[in-house]
Amino acid sequence: MMANVVVVGAQWGDEGKGKIVDWLSDRADLVVRFQGGHNAGHTLVVGENVYKLSLLPSGVVQGKLSLIGNGVVVDPNALLAEIERISNQGVKIDPTTLGLAENAALILPIHQDLDAARENEAGKNKIGTTGRGIGPAYEDKVGRRAIRVADLFDEASLKSKIERLMAHHRALRAGLDLPPIDGEKLFADLMALAPKLLPYVRPVWRDLEQARKDNKKVLFEGAQGILLDVDHGTYPYVTSSSTVAGQAASGSGTGPGNLDYVLGIVKAYTTRVGEGPFPTELFDDVGKGIGERGREFGTVTGRARRCGWFDAILVHQACCVGGITGLALTKLDVLDGVETINICVGYKLGDKVLDYYPSNLHAQANVEPIYETVEGWSETTFGARSWKDLPANAIKYIRRIEELVGRPIALVSTSPEREDTILVTDPFAK
Ligand code: IMP
Repeated sequence: MMANVVVVGAQWGDEGKGKIVDWLSDRADLVVRFQGGHNAGHTLVVGENVYKLSLLPSGVVQGKLSLIGNGVVVDPNALLAEIERISNQGVKIDPTTLGLAENAALILPIHQDLDAARENEAGKNKIGTTGRGIGPAYEDKVGRRAIRVADLFDEASLKSKIERLMAHHRALRAGLDLPPIDGEKLFADLMALAPKLLPYVRPVWRDLEQARKDNKKVLFEGAQGILLDVDHGTYPYVTSSSTVAGQAASGSGTGPGNLDYVLGIVKAYTTRVGEGPFPTELFDDVGKGIGERGREFGTVTGRARRCGWFDAILVHQACCVGGITGLALTKLDVLDGVETINICVGYKLGDKVLDYYPSNLHAQANVEPIYETVEGWSETTFGARSWKDLPANAIKYIRRIEELVGRPIALVSTSPEREDTILVTDPFAK
């Protein structure tokens, strides 16, 4: 039987989802984004070509029907700019390959203003957001005052919705010393871009229902990672959406019974960009080396990522709350040549030993990792395409991760290149 697959990050994002989703989308009929916005940065390397996607589902590059679901917050200007940029790279983007949910909420310039102003105001307590207006847009969505895609095509309701939205933002902006909003301009700008978006807009849930009836394979493409989930992550140092697999259903308009296999993407070590607790963070040359070899700089913001050892406690927890069936391990080659490798297998908090990550912020910041040390390997794993290309210690490391996390490894990615992938279990062939 063919299955639908959900791909989620099982750490703090940047696990290499883009490459895995690209690889899997070759086997899928449809690719759907279900949360987040243009805070995501998915890099796809196909031969000579490098595609950097933020809002477009990775399936567009392979010409698959790619849908932006209702759970995504959409900056219309960013979307149009990305469509143009990727089209200019020779990718065909038209209504046969791209659909945008009519009930998705929009990110407006006022959200970006608010994001930046709040971060400035917070000083050392800042979240370290991507500055894309993600949080404020989701706030307006659950506050029931968001402008949604469908509103762009109904002048009268757009006007009254802008009024309502401005009433809320006026007070916020005054408190943060931001200039007043020009409502007329906002309305005119939205009316001007509406016709450009219109061809893509549709009830995305119907595409999913049709796919279900036709027994088509759907790939649900998550952004960020489970440790950035608004409920299960390191709150408040999180993003403002649900990043767990359950969101794939509600964020696109289908039922949880249609999510058959959840593939969690993990890096062979850990990185984090932005503020917030990170128990296994390294501040020494080993951490620096990982950052350099792994080219750990943000795709969206260019910020250097913090680097540390693999944390089996956190990934195990992410697998449980995120509903992960199996794992794809990425960037193993970055550990090539590291003499001894640590894996976090528990935490010490005062005189207590914990086998999970608590929710209390103070505890999250103060747990000390308990490490198991394993021997590294000196050979290269870069570009390996089968188990026999991997050194024995690398295989041992992978097996130990499987054991500690309690989920099987389905795929190993050994370079950014599409074909450098070891397939253990095909998630689509459940
Ligand atoms: P926001 O999503 O821009 O509000 O940022 C909130 C937190 O999530 C910050 O720590 C960001 O660095 C982090 N974040 C957001 N998107 C990504 C991503 O795609 N990869 C990694 N971290 C992200």
